[in-house]
Amino acid sequence: MKTLLIGATGGIGSRLLPMLTAKGHDVVGLHRRKSQAEAIEKAGGQAVLGDLIEMSVAELAEAASGCDAIIFSAGAAGSGAERTTAIDGEGPIKAVAAARAVGVARLYLVSAFPEAGRGGEPKAGFEHYMTEKKRADVAVASSDLDWVILRPGKLLDTAGEGRIALGSALPYGAVARDSVARVLASLLQRPAICREIMELTDGEVAVEEAVSRIAR
Ligand SMILES: NC(=O)c1ccc[n+]([C@@H]2O[C@H](COP(=O)([O-])OP(=O)(O)OC[C@H]3O[C@@H](n4cnc5c(N)ncnc54)[C@H](OP(=O)(O)O)[C@@H]3O)[C@@H](O)[C@H]2O)c1
Repeated sequence: MKTLLIGATGGIGSRLLPMLTAKGHDVVGLHRRKSQAEAIEKAGGQAVLGDLIEMSVAELAEAASGCDAIIFSAGAAGSGAERTTAIDGEGPIKAVAAARAVGVARLYLVSAFPEAGRGGEPKAGFEHYMTEKKRADVAVASSDLDWVILRPGKLLDTAGEGRIALGSALPYGAVARDSVARVLASLLQRPAICREIMELTDGEVAVEEAVSRIAR
């Protein structure tokens, strides 16, 4: 199958891309700097240059053309409110429109755990980020696509034991980016899992088993 990976060079995306190509998937990796093409191609992907903020829906649709799925794992990463609006909020909305334009049925969105940032002093930038994440979730969940919204806890760069908790409502916690990538790779293999919002943290269950339990 063929997948457009938006955020291919990110913490999750750069882990996910080689997992998918190792399983024999064709992956189109969107990147915004020319220098990033080499790493995408080295991981077995097809590099497509484009900045999500500047790209029109038609340009994004062209990148998605012929794909079976879009995975959206891009994010502004605290680079300012305007970029957060454009990438975390508008980005998935553009991805929905692009998918519909070229008949891509499946969309996987990496979103955020609703309890993120609770308990500390509220910060305007983070509140805005959460508002935009929710706006994107609403747009995706109200679309007619076969969507999955994955809400990981605090992302860690630790290796990850590959043991997770995955479900519709979980206590807040952290999760290795590696495990998030594994969950996305596993979900992609199971098209029957769709129209689901899932929370994800590190836990006790092996990734494949946790995803199988969702399927049941
Ligand atoms: N940090 C957390 O604890 C946390 C928790 C839950 C959910 N999340 C969400 O999880 C997702 C992935 O996280 P991550 O750690 O993998 O993020 P990341 O490492 O910051 O990666 C973000 C990706 O988005 C790309 N991107 C940013 N602006 C772009 C643009 N204008 N056009 C095209 N691509 C652009 C980045 O490209 P470059 O490589 O060029 O920058 C990168 O590939 C994000 O949506 C984030 O909000 C984060």
